[in-house]
Amino acid sequence: MANSDSNRVLIFDTTLRDGEQCPGATMTLEEKLEVAELLDAMGVDIIEAGFPIASVGDFEAVSEIARRVKRAVVAGLSRANPKDIERAGEAVRHAVRPRIHTFISTSPVHMKYKLQKEPDAVLEMVIDQVTRARNLVDDVEWSCEDGTRTEHDFLCRCVEAAIKAGATTINIPDTVGYTTPAEYRALFEMVRTRVPNADKAIFSVHCHDDLGMAVANSLAGVQGGARQIECTINGIGERAGNAALEEIVMAIKTRADVFPYETGIDTTMLTRASKVVATATSFPVQYNKAIVGRNAFAHESGIHQDGMLKHTQTYEIMTPESVGVSTSSLVMGKHSGRNAFRSKLAELGYKLSDNELNDAFERFKALADRKKHVYDEDIEAIVDEKIATAHDRMRLVSLTVIAGTRGPQRATMRLAIDGRVVTEEADGNGPVDAVFNAIKALAPHEATLELYQVHAVTEGTDAQAEVSVRLSADGRSVTGRGADPDTLVASAKAYLVALNKLVARGAGMHAQHAAAE
Ligand code: KIV
Ligand code: ZN
Repeated sequence: MANSDSNRVLIFDTTLRDGEQCPGATMTLEEKLEVAELLDAMGVDIIEAGFPIASVGDFEAVSEIARRVKRAVVAGLSRANPKDIERAGEAVRHAVRPRIHTFISTSPVHMKYKLQKEPDAVLEMVIDQVTRARNLVDDVEWSCEDGTRTEHDFLCRCVEAAIKAGATTINIPDTVGYTTPAEYRALFEMVRTRVPNADKAIFSVHCHDDLGMAVANSLAGVQGGARQIECTINGIGERAGNAALEEIVMAIKTRADVFPYETGIDTTMLTRASKVVATATSFPVQYNKAIVGRNAFAHESGIHQDGMLKHTQTYEIMTPESVGVSTSSLVMGKHSGRNAFRSKLAELGYKLSDNELNDAFERFKALADRKKHVYDEDIEAIVDEKIATAHDRMRLVSLTVIAGTRGPQRATMRLAIDGRVVTEEADGNGPVDAVFNAIKALAPHEATLELYQVHAVTEGTDAQAEVSVRLSADGRSVTGRGADPDTLVASAKAYLVALNKLVARGAGMHAQHAAAE
């Protein structure tokens, strides 16, 4: 057990709950399952799989993850009311190691305006929520939302009551990303000193990145005695995001002299996890992101390159291999065979069935015919895109675009919608606009385009373009990503990925199209 005397720190991943909760990061069931299986294989101790009461989709995702995960604890989130707690208990019921994570706000501002309750009533709810959860499972985590802005005496009373009622983990979140490292460390030291039964529970940190201090705060909380860190892959999450798992794990590993702790994470899987989550959520990773950004191990300036050639430790504090970046990125071309392709997929961390492998190989060959060098990133783009679109109802069949100085630009598009192929032509103010207008003509919808972004997967003019599109409708916001050597085809694919996500959530479509569902 990871108590505060032990140096083992538990990694609690909330990519599928706090991460997925942020606008535009919604994932399909298949994508959630893929992420959960990867987290389990990577050595995450607790996977927070979702918020079961939030929707039927959330409930189903948590239940399915609970059934499939072999090793990690699977947690479902609930507020402090009986229905939420029962639903969370039902969703995690089939897990090898189920946990209910139940929370309530404890800060003056949250209690007054959000809960509209007096502190004593909130304290009663704490006892009730933990007792109910403990009647369903042995492993109960209790969180005091807005913990860092909670009055200390009241915080200690709540923590003591939660532990007495049976909570095995106590999480003190920095919900609004307000605390600082010294303050957060002192908060854990204070609570652990003042609460008489503190040694009966594991303390947990949960930090948001509004002031850019989520990772630093999390590590400081551990120095203050916490032994569980709640974090997300790529730091995705509400607003500025949560503490990034990869940064925390590598800080602990690289600076063992300052952070004498251990996690159970296989760090060589971090890059793969980052890519899988970026694809599933369609949230691109910033180039200069620590650990998993494209430039994290790139040395551009002459002085740095010269130093690196003389000795890698001149400018490298950890090796690319330690986080799963392969140093030889150039892989194959059109003469590469199926076996070489199979080994490359295994090296990149994919486990595909024979059918999936054949399908991926076909698409690899088609790409290799058009592109001289096929890099790891290219292969990941084609395989990940296929996983993301496996259950889509609308697919691009073909696209021809007339562009150039003499407008209007015109797109002729064929789409397969629920297996039926339909064709349309549309003009636009530029080729991208024409492509999107063609999709609108074929699948009428009310979604608003919030973001359109293009970048190259690798270098060179024959590089694949990777396009991100964010659409919003009926208060939902989703992101889609598509890759292709042709930027307009990639744009159409990305738009369709996003639109399919909206359709799957019953949002944004005109009545006649929705009726065909
Ligand atoms: O940020 C937060 O307070 C949360 C809780 C639900 C743990 O996500
Ligand atoms: Zn949070």
